[in-house]
Amino acid sequence: MNVFVLGGTGTIGGAIVVELVRRSHHVVALSRSQTSDKKLMALGAVPRRGDLTAPKDWAAFAVSCDAIIQVAATFGDDMGDVDAEAMSAILNVAGDQPKPVRLIYTGGCWLYGETGDEVATEERPFDPLPSFAWMVSHAEKLLRAPNLITAVIHPAMVYDAVDGGVFHRYISAAKAGQPIEIWGSSKTRWPLVDSADLARAYCDLMERPDLEGHFNAVAEEGVAVGEIVSAVVRAYGSQVEPVAVSADEAIAKNGAWAKGPTMDQQMSGQKMRASTGWEAQVTDYRRSDVFKTAVI
Ligand SMILES: NC(=O)c1ccc[n+]([C@@H]2O[C@H](COP(=O)([O-])OP(=O)(O)OC[C@H]3O[C@@H](n4cnc5c(N)ncnc54)[C@H](OP(=O)(O)O)[C@@H]3O)[C@@H](O)[C@H]2O)c1
Repeated sequence: MNVFVLGGTGTIGGAIVVELVRRSHHVVALSRSQTSDKKLMALGAVPRRGDLTAPKDWAAFAVSCDAIIQVAATFGDDMGDVDAEAMSAILNVAGDQPKPVRLIYTGGCWLYGETGDEVATEERPFDPLPSFAWMVSHAEKLLRAPNLITAVIHPAMVYDAVDGGVFHRYISAAKAGQPIEIWGSSKTRWPLVDSADLARAYCDLMERPDLEGHFNAVAEEGVAVGEIVSAVVRAYGSQVEPVAVSADEAIAKNGAWAKGPTMDQQMSGQKMRASTGWEAQVTDYRRSDVFKTAVI
């Protein structure tokens, strides 16, 4: 398939590009710099210069492809507005195509809010972290669009063998001999998935246009943050005790998004497994390469 990737240089997008290329898809990815051009070419994709904030420059090309994968995010205050404009631009031109376009859109575990002892399935009503609430309405709009065949993936917390992903903050502190900060309670659970497994989930879903709707991508339903920190401490032989930082303190210092890692969450990947046959290869984060290979 001809696939256009938005965000192909990111933690999730980079792994998706690798997997798409491995499956012999032809991958073009949006790139906003020479550095990103080089990174994408090294992964086997063709960079197409453009910016997420200027979608008129690339939307017509995007819908001329067989599939679009949206994993780009600016993470600024304008994140929702930029995504809205980009997705509207795609919607505006998708109707010009002779056939509907396959779109894989990205949500996330933080859209389910705090789940506590419940394991969130796709049936659970969304209760998003306010700074990511826009994702829910954008997803619904895309799912309703007649000229798009949309599936929305909700990744668990993603760790990555290249940049550490959600473990990055812990690994970099351990490597620098600094105390690891645990935001909120050490009993807080995170659903987890390895970026390479997640990338296979994106590709499996992309290749199945008969599947629309919401799909969680999860390898481990909920792992306590305290356990993860202990594993990082062991892996790096850190001599420094982790420190507890309250959720309020973390938010005050880092911004509203910092509420996300303090939410106690469990999430099920059963629907993805049953409908696509996807299985995570790494079902225990301690057995992944992340602590060995992450370049931090
Ligand atoms: N990581 C997780 O654990 C996780 C979990 C659930 C959901 N998600 C969601 O998944 C999405 C991607 O997350 P991520 O962790 O992969 O993010 P990331 O590593 O920060 O990657 C962001 C991507 O967006 C691109 N981008 C940012 N601003 C751009 C612009 N103005 N024009 C063009 N490209 C631009 C970046 O390109 P450059 O290389 O040019 O900066 C990069 O490729 C986000 O929506 C996030 O909320 C992530």
